[in-house]
Amino acid sequence: MKQITASAPAKIILFGEHSVVYGYPAIATAINLRAYVTASPASNEFRISSTQLPKIYNVPFSTSFSDNNVPPQVKPIVYAILVTQDYLDKHTPLSIHVDSKIPMGAGLGSSAAVNVATVAAVSNYYGVSLDKPTISKLAFEAEKIVHGTPSGIDNTISTFGGLIYYQKGKIEQINSTNEFSLVIGNTLISRQTKVLVAKVRALKEILPSVVVKIFSSIGDIVNLAKEEIVSGNIEKLGHLININHGLLESIGVSHRKLSELVHAALSAGALGAKLTGAGGGGCMFALVKKENLSTVATAIKQAGGVPIITSTTLDGVLIHG
Ligand code: MEV
Repeated sequence: MKQITASAPAKIILFGEHSVVYGYPAIATAINLRAYVTASPASNEFRISSTQLPKIYNVPFSTSFSDNNVPPQVKPIVYAILVTQDYLDKHTPLSIHVDSKIPMGAGLGSSAAVNVATVAAVSNYYGVSLDKPTISKLAFEAEKIVHGTPSGIDNTISTFGGLIYYQKGKIEQINSTNEFSLVIGNTLISRQTKVLVAKVRALKEILPSVVVKIFSSIGDIVNLAKEEIVSGNIEKLGHLININHGLLESIGVSHRKLSELVHAALSAGALGAKLTGAGGGGCMFALVKKENLSTVATAIKQAGGVPIITSTTLDGVLIHG
């Protein structure tokens, strides 16, 4: 039986969340935590299964974007299939299996990684090797149907890998071959990005001059961090990570659990640690020398987080055959 597997990485925001909403720059990176998607034939429908879903979903082959019957759990995958099939003008039933190590709803770009890997697996299943800009664009189209107005960061990182610098919708690849060892700590506390963004907006309305200076400092941190990423100066990067975390704490988007994981990581020898993404729960990460990875992971676990040892990666979407 013909089958093709493709994979794509998760992402984290390293620097600049929240201030990025007001036009300041931010840096995000692909991490070595991947979603694997396998496309194979099916008899007369779309058959969707995932290691992260409790059952197999059979979706009628006749389904379309306007169809309200597609179960929400598999909507992004089904839309990624349809977008790719429309682009290639190839329409056949397919079986899609997702094997993902990326926690869902944790701000790590899980749905973009699955979308990107689905577009790559489906196109290669039909014998077409799409270039990366096209894969990213198709994954973005699928994401837009589901999420409305995503920033385009997640699909870009997941497709191209590496680190990106972004500001006001402009996305620039950071030209660096350095890879950095990280431990991510998941608090498992759910939060809503829009609630935290609104909280920061309210604070900015009460104290505009103070909050704008904090945003501007975060912007400076991002620009310095870009240089240190290229030079590979991890000590300086560690300081920048810590200061960025402190500034996020100061505008009220941390959480007691996030702070505990950050301090646990630092006490165990991390060079820097901060929350990543919207805050209020979700994940933190620590920049760690390779020899300290397991010590820091253990400290995060003891502090009540779920640690994931990983690294930044230059690998974007990959076809595994
Ligand atoms: C959320 O992952 C990052 C925020 O900066 C919001 C955004 O950029 O849309 C908090």
